[in-house]
Amino acid sequence: MELVIEKINQLKGNISVPGDKSISHRSLILGSIAQGETRIYNFLNSLDCLQTLECMQSLGAEIELGEDNFIKIKGKGLYGLQEPKDMLEVGNSGTTIRLLAGLLSGQNFYSVLNGDHSIRKRPMKRVVQPLRLMGADIWGREDGQLAPLSIKGSLLNPLQYTLPVASAQVKSALLLAGLYAAGETIIKEPLLTRDHTERMLSLMEADIMISHQEIIIIGGKYLKGTDLFIPGDISSAAYFIAAASMLKSSQIVISQVGVNPTRTGIIKILKRMGAKINILNYQLKSNEPRADLEIEYSELKGIEIMPEEVPFLIDELPLIALVATQAEGKTIVSGAKELRVKETDRLKAIVSELKKMGANIKEKEDGFIVVGPSKLQGAACESYHDHRIAMSLAIAALLAEGKTVIKNSECIDISFPGFENTLQKLISF
Ligand code: S3P
Repeated sequence: MELVIEKINQLKGNISVPGDKSISHRSLILGSIAQGETRIYNFLNSLDCLQTLECMQSLGAEIELGEDNFIKIKGKGLYGLQEPKDMLEVGNSGTTIRLLAGLLSGQNFYSVLNGDHSIRKRPMKRVVQPLRLMGADIWGREDGQLAPLSIKGSLLNPLQYTLPVASAQVKSALLLAGLYAAGETIIKEPLLTRDHTERMLSLMEADIMISHQEIIIIGGKYLKGTDLFIPGDISSAAYFIAAASMLKSSQIVISQVGVNPTRTGIIKILKRMGAKINILNYQLKSNEPRADLEIEYSELKGIEIMPEEVPFLIDELPLIALVATQAEGKTIVSGAKELRVKETDRLKAIVSELKKMGANIKEKEDGFIVVGPSKLQGAACESYHDHRIAMSLAIAALLAEGKTVIKNSECIDISFPGFENTLQKLISF
């Protein structure tokens, strides 16, 4: 599929965005191993999350997907999952494969996790190595570096581990394995990453203690099924926050967006660049903060983004590269080497496509440097089958003279089905 987008003048109106992807994955996994019923509201019905749903069903979970993104799960309890009859297919979803690797390491059966072309190239040793330290029998190509992963689960040993890469997926895999370990698993993170797993585990009454950068989980305690209200995904809202900040006379409101402090890097960084973003109606629901965001156009300036800020806006960095092209002066991003092992090499992809559109951008080994402002021109662009690259380019196209074509744009459905319709609402208000 090709997405064709032309320049527009402004965005106006009120929208909401679909449910948070990270929280949706976790709600399926934890709801399936909880006791009693879990009801999920505003589940993200996107390709990635449906992949987790199918995997959990193959493991025997009773999950019903109803109308309006409502899900009901009859929990199986910690020890109620069953050996799947076939390979578990995770599609394009890194969260699914890594979190399930942790969960499956603690089951008393055999399973295999497989994924698409992109997943089979992404690094898995980061979960395999600590899971092996817990006693898991887990294998993959190149000594566990690459999927498919094959797992013979067992009772695990507790672990004390400092995360060598800032990754919420690795942390969450170890917390899930920790539920099945005989004793206290302690995980330290030198750089804070998204904490949705910890929050949901606390809500479901797991034996978990969280201090600033250390999490302790004690295995064996049953989780309690609960009602989970999922906020809008800030990573999806980010495209419209950025667009409204860059397009003159824009003024929009995005309602009920998740504003968990481990995810709001995009708001902090854009504000530092000069953006006008108001946070309204803040509330905590299902142990996750949410708010309405009001955004209006503002002049932007280039800034430096430091390595410790990167985990808080890891998925928004391709979009930041675009915003920097419209900001006065230099923007430098460092410490973002992780972008090279996402769905595609996002540093290479965004630098190459924004260059085609006329941006003054240079790739660094661990980030990029942009000098702005630049007038962008429409171009024929590649999505690299990566949803975040496709949507970042769609927003770039709104600013570019002429027409932009984004190839293989169907990947947007991985995280944001309805992206085009939501954009259309703001254009035709
Ligand atoms: C995610 C964690 C991040 C993020 C991904 C979702 C999660 O990945 O990029 O989109 O749900 O835990 P890493 O753990 O690889 O940083």
